[in-house]
Amino acid sequence: MSGAKRTIGIGIIGLGTVGGGVVRLVLSHRDEYRAAYGIDLDVVRGCSRSSAQAEATGLAPERFTADWREIVSDPAVDIVVELIGGEHPATEIFEAAFAAGKHVVTANKALLGRHMERLAGIAEAAGVQLKCEAAAGGGIPVVNALEHALTGNRILTIAGILNGTTNYILSRMEREGAGFEEVLADAQRLGYAEADPTADVDGFDAASKTALLASIGFHTRVTTDDVFQEGIRRISTDDIAAARELGYTIKLLGIARDTEAGIEARVHPAMIPATHQLAAVSDAMNAVYVVGDAVGETMFYGAGAGSFPTASAVVGDILSLAEPLARGEQPLPEPTPYRAVRPVFPIDVLENSFFLRITANEEAGALVRAVEILARHDIGITSARSLPGAEDEGGTIAIVTKRAPERALAAAVEELSGDEAVREVANVIRIEDVDAWTQEVEEN
Ligand code: HSE
Repeated sequence: MSGAKRTIGIGIIGLGTVGGGVVRLVLSHRDEYRAAYGIDLDVVRGCSRSSAQAEATGLAPERFTADWREIVSDPAVDIVVELIGGEHPATEIFEAAFAAGKHVVTANKALLGRHMERLAGIAEAAGVQLKCEAAAGGGIPVVNALEHALTGNRILTIAGILNGTTNYILSRMEREGAGFEEVLADAQRLGYAEADPTADVDGFDAASKTALLASIGFHTRVTTDDVFQEGIRRISTDDIAAARELGYTIKLLGIARDTEAGIEARVHPAMIPATHQLAAVSDAMNAVYVVGDAVGETMFYGAGAGSFPTASAVVGDILSLAEPLARGEQPLPEPTPYRAVRPVFPIDVLENSFFLRITANEEAGALVRAVEILARHDIGITSARSLPGAEDEGGTIAIVTKRAPERALAAAVEELSGDEAVREVANVIRIEDVDAWTQEVEEN
């Protein structure tokens, strides 16, 4: 067949945890790929700031370069693999690769969360592919599922534990009663956290992944900036204990829903029933729960970070491009996510039930005032009680509200915070209505 080539050249830019994993995986599995797919994957070049880092991956020294441009312009490179993360020079690498007619495989959630539409547009115009399985959920093949296996559905809900660092922190706080800072230090030592762990603990990392999955699942533009973000810094062991008593587990969730009026996209700690599938996902593991109107509930579970799990997703993308290339064909374009631009709701127009933890100057008075103030804002109360185990001197109150608009709750919290009997509204946690996630599933 004309143009057919058995050897597919890949150039890898970034040889850190993930890039190093990709080199090691390809080098160790090369014979298997040859036998199974008839494809010889050749790591033609690897780029990093450090030749020692490159050498540690097993890459031959003559294949190393410190200049990414040499990879993009190398005629032997068919697929450029960008694994440096961040916006620059990753953006320039994408643009140069597309201009050179090369496909790009990436794990760069921060870049795609913000600029997927523009970059996918450039790739499409250049007739090449941009593939990003590793960018959301690490080794979990959920991008592929949304782009291919689930396309017969209207996707209704995507709810994910998309950040391993925060899931690890919450799991250990729950299991051991350990404090936030102590467990964060362990997460950094174990290599789960981003270089700047605020991206993990404040929800930015999960928001990028939520934006990406929502765009692909709902065929519309959702960027990281559209996603409401609240992290886990305020979660205390008191919240976790109170949640347990109520039958809930606290998870940092990325939640995206496609409703008739528009798209919901938010990342925040949420109380979910302890019996829900997502509640069982612990430590650094990730899971993405996807509801399609035909298939109903599905859940994808696996390692969301780490060298080989993420490399597994990257190499899957490489091989899916390599197969047609090896036959002398161009890879088929992925379904473009941006067929329509739908409104994404700001958080304050949404409704939820809430858990409030209020530390008091004087407990009985604070309880009375909280009930009064919530009633004045038309917020119903399911339960209100003191939290006996909590450590605050003046006492601590735990309130669970009925469903109420976010805007009303925010106004009530502001009023409560200024009340004499109240020391602080120490935390407000959304109680997720998980039944709503499956409401529009077709009857069998
Ligand atoms: N810091 C990220 C996490 C790594 O903790 O999940 C994978 O994106």
